[in-house]
Amino acid sequence: MEYERLPDRLETLISQSELEERIRQLAAEIDRDFAGADPLLCVGVLKGSVFFLVDLLKQVKIPVVVDFFQTASYGSGTTPGEVRIRKDIDLSIRGRDVLLIEDIVDTGYTLRTILDLFRFRGARSVRLCALLDKADAREVDVPIDYRGFTIDNIFVVGYGLDLDERYRNLPYIGVIQDDAAPETD
Ligand code: IMP
Repeated sequence: MEYERLPDRLETLISQSELEERIRQLAAEIDRDFAGADPLLCVGVLKGSVFFLVDLLKQVKIPVVVDFFQTASYGSGTTPGEVRIRKDIDLSIRGRDVLLIEDIVDTGYTLRTILDLFRFRGARSVRLCALLDKADAREVDVPIDYRGFTIDNIFVVGYGLDLDERYRNLPYIGVIQDDAAPETD
């Protein structure tokens, strides 16, 4: 008999309207901080940041250019602190102001690695924008310049965040209410 997976029970942690409101505020902060600058190079970390990046940048009024960076995915057998590049950006960042856009900062290794790499490559400035901050899970320090929400050290899905590639298209941030949620520490 074929095993049929029952749907997970989801509890809303951050609703769609809360996300929309906070994203409007973050966009206003970015507009204010980068007013009059050269086009801001916004780099999304694939795949999780895509939903957030699109909604954020639709609210931003300053000129931007967009690129993407991808690291090896969470739980893929990398040892803690070892972040591999899966897809590099296409544009040059030398002398540019860069805004790195991420869905969630957990241990911090992903953003720390990309931040150091972009600085090494000669970016004029690199600022970090993260929708979610699991502050209690942090193992390396990362300076988050634009933070959507600080959350507890729990596994969340939706709005770009996945569990085995599922749930990315939920319009809200949810918590799975069964044993399927993996430990994150
Ligand atoms: P870090 O390098 O430990 O900060 O991990 C960041 C990455 O881990 C994020 O970009 C996500 O892909 C993934 N991640 C961390 N926590 C969660 C979660 O609660 N749900 C889904 N993905 C997560």
